[in-house]
Amino acid sequence: MSNDEVSTKSFTLTNNQTGETSILPIIDGTMGPSVIDVRKLYNDTNHFTFDPSFTSTGSCKSRITYIDGENGILQHRGYDIQDLAEKANYLEVCYLLLYGDLPNAAQKKQFEHNITYHTLLHEQMHFFYRGFRRDAHPMAIMCGVVAALSAFYHDSLDIWDPAQRELSAHRLIAKIGTLAAMTYKYSIGQPFMYPRNDLSYSENFLYMCFAVPAEPYKVNPILARAMEKLLILHADHEQNASTSTVRLAGSSQANPFACIAAGIACLWGPAHGGANQEVLEMLDEIGSKERIPEFIKKAKDKDDPFRLMGFGHRVYKNFDPRARVLKQSCDEVLEDLGINDPRLELAMELERIALQDEYFIERKLFPNVDFYSGIILKAMGFPTSMFTVLFAVARTVGWIAQWKEMIEEPSLRIGRPRQLYTGPASRPFVKLEDRD
Ligand code: SDX
Repeated sequence: MSNDEVSTKSFTLTNNQTGETSILPIIDGTMGPSVIDVRKLYNDTNHFTFDPSFTSTGSCKSRITYIDGENGILQHRGYDIQDLAEKANYLEVCYLLLYGDLPNAAQKKQFEHNITYHTLLHEQMHFFYRGFRRDAHPMAIMCGVVAALSAFYHDSLDIWDPAQRELSAHRLIAKIGTLAAMTYKYSIGQPFMYPRNDLSYSENFLYMCFAVPAEPYKVNPILARAMEKLLILHADHEQNASTSTVRLAGSSQANPFACIAAGIACLWGPAHGGANQEVLEMLDEIGSKERIPEFIKKAKDKDDPFRLMGFGHRVYKNFDPRARVLKQSCDEVLEDLGINDPRLELAMELERIALQDEYFIERKLFPNVDFYSGIILKAMGFPTSMFTVLFAVARTVGWIAQWKEMIEEPSLRIGRPRQLYTGPASRPFVKLEDRD
């Protein structure tokens, strides 16, 4: 245990069968629950802890993001997400997540230059897309092309070299937007658009998605600002499933591009980042306010696998603070664009009814970040199949910041959980002729 973790507080664990006790130190953080240090538990007691979905397990120390689920609080390096969404731009938040504080004017200018000048891809990367069907799910393409970055950028694969770690972080933040835009273009059969160095990150992304070579394209500033907010709100979220995937992959000393590809694969799941696509598809299936009670009933039926997508969260037992910001942004974007999307009204009626229902109240199921994001993305012109890709674009900075923090820990060890074995007891081999 390092000096900063020497604790005078502890738990005593008693084996009620033998009376043996084990003293387990408590480690305090800056905010939030303290942890019980069980690192010596197996050696002391020959027992493992058991927490299959990690509901009560802290997997690491981190200085990046703090979540208070009971009070609906999300902070990055101590700054409230509401302030960052309203007052910062995405690359400032990227800098904050990577380096620990908001950049000053010179740092911001240098960082924006570094990211901008890494948005271009090696030309050979274009050929990877040709191998996919045009109707491949965009997340399938993203898993492939992000992992393929390892095959090109050999000069930033040494994870022990701080300069190469920083270079791979900059490359990933910069290129994930280009790869995502190319994925979208490929899926609709349009030519790829090269990034432009005169545009901001969000303007560049929208340009690469929606411009065509045949005519000039001007990015709508309302959409660019909405995209900035979406990217900031999805940038990092503590030790969620995909971030934990990136950390576990990184603990084996795999290269950062492969680790981010693993995070993308995990994010794709409908219980995680894939929910934003499912929310829109669910709203389309509900179709009208009159059918809401039918779907609320389905969501409550234990025998029905249907869940109200965009509701509930492992950590937030109050409103997801990101959902509040997104709901406001949703109103602004639709109003500014003069779009009257009946799905927004349907979503708000669904939210109103669900939040009055005892089942949802009792289980503290509130709208999460995915509930409103899809409506904004639809208004921007993205197909639902691209929604989780956009989540991955935003979350790449969180993944790589957490990966970098882990690699820089002095005590990096490979993550290797154990298990409770419930299979057959030892038994002798049975020859083929003796088997039933
Ligand atoms: C994200 O972890 C993160 O930080 C993730 C994320 C991030 O930024 O990285 O915030 C992004 O993934 C947001 C979540 C998006 N997913 C969805 O919207 C899918 C729908 N939500 C559920 O699948 C669920 O709420 C989870 C996966 C989000 C949370 O699952 P938990 O913590 O394992 O909760 P649970 O399954 O134990 O549910 C507790 C109870 C159960 O009922 P009982 O068995 O107690 O009777 O609540 C019920 C569940 O059936 N429940 C729901 C429900 N979510 C939970 N019932 C109906 N509809 C729902 N959406």
